Amino acid sequence: MRSRIGPEPFKIKAVEPMRLPDRSVREEALVRANYNLFGLRSEEVYVDLLTDSGTGAMSAAQWAALMMGDEAYAGARSFYALKDAVKEILGFDYVIPAHQGRGAENVLFGTLCKKGDVIPFNMPFDTTMAHILNVGAKPVDCVVDEAFDLVSDYPFKGNVDIGKLETVINQYGKENIPLIMVTVTNNSGGGQPVSLQNIRDVSQVARKYGIPFFLDAARMAENAYFIKMREPSCANMSLKEIIRAMADAADGLAVSCKKDPLVNIGGMITCRNEEMYHVLLPRTILYEGFATYGGLAGRDLQALAQGLFEMTDEEYMSHRVAQVRHLGELLDEAGVPFVKPAGGHAIFVDAASFLPRIPQRLFPADVLAAEVYIEGAVRGIGLGALAFATADPETGSEVLPKLELFRLAIPRRAYTNSHMEYVAEVVNDVYKRRESVDYGLELAYEPPVKGIRHFLGKLRPKKL
Ligand code: F0G
Repeated sequence: MRSRIGPEPFKIKAVEPMRLPDRSVREEALVRANYNLFGLRSEEVYVDLLTDSGTGAMSAAQWAALMMGDEAYAGARSFYALKDAVKEILGFDYVIPAHQGRGAENVLFGTLCKKGDVIPFNMPFDTTMAHILNVGAKPVDCVVDEAFDLVSDYPFKGNVDIGKLETVINQYGKENIPLIMVTVTNNSGGGQPVSLQNIRDVSQVARKYGIPFFLDAARMAENAYFIKMREPSCANMSLKEIIRAMADAADGLAVSCKKDPLVNIGGMITCRNEEMYHVLLPRTILYEGFATYGGLAGRDLQALAQGLFEMTDEEYMSHRVAQVRHLGELLDEAGVPFVKPAGGHAIFVDAASFLPRIPQRLFPADVLAAEVYIEGAVRGIGLGALAFATADPETGSEVLPKLELFRLAIPRRAYTNSHMEYVAEVVNDVYKRRESVDYGLELAYEPPVKGIRHFLGKLRPKKL
């Protein structure tokens, strides 16, 4: 049954035309892109759901804030506007801006991790995993088993299994664990939330062993909204109070501000402790920029400060989550399998059951991405073996991920409900003809760096 979806809680001030390219253009573009949708030009795409990262629309207040940007190299007013917003909304005294989330990851993991270290996680996303692997450390998934039951409607599939977490700490030893990290919401596992209780439980374990606890908080506001809806003890808290309660449980945050904080570019690390702040600054200066700008223009810092307030708006967030759920319901009516419940920022189609004839080694999620693009110029992203396969450290043999998903990520405030209807029609049409899909994909080129082959890999079709 469809739930009610209200109209968009905004009106549109600036429009950007978009056109459906002809089928022949799409077919040529796909071949030119080597079956990797990162290789498409944006005008070859109609509805672009590759990512919700940096693709949202800024508000009138954010555009106005750009003009207030102070471009001083050091000590800019815009940095202090950000610092004040972080203090008010997240409660942290220290903030290090970064050019985007992976800049923050480079500073954090590059500074705190050494070869052989282990980072317990619920599940890391792509560049997060890549940064950890590339310093010679490894992430260890401690997510609850429900994360892998795609049809269960368990409300907090992003939760950490506290038993698994303690086992990992005891197995590897706390001296080899420079930090524990929890991603909110859990992007790799379907945009699924983590409960406030679970965040607090992880925090307690981290404190018990004296290990710093960080949230990867790119989608903290969506996570907080799910907490409000699904965690009875939080039903009467405001979104702002829940975000603050999540932050209060952590020693720090690493944030890609291109998601919930509503900017097109930006990232940050926050922490409470002056010592940690100073430990992180040298690498910030080497790779990002001076401590008060971290690779961002003053105007970017100013728009980010405003975005942090806007992400706490409940009317906006309730529509956002409803719009994603609406897409899910339209797919559900046609029987398309996807991770239930719908995620906060995206629908994650279960490519393994959508295209069961294609072995995971031949990248069914990426075949589905290609087919959906050909069908209606909708661009999503494959998040399966191409993105997340790893090598067994002892044997070197390939370890395939448990999930093989095709993600349709919804940019914030950019598309309307009727775009969701178009997307659902396109995916449903591919679903109807799914048995005629008679090929997989194999790698023709793979970059020599771990964890990033879905960005740069070249693929070619292989008949089943
Ligand atoms: N953490 C999470 C949970 C993310 O989803 C991402 C990026 C990052 C960190 C890295 O941030 O892109 O600003 O460098 N996710 C994007 C996505 C790209 O499509 O989900 P970034």
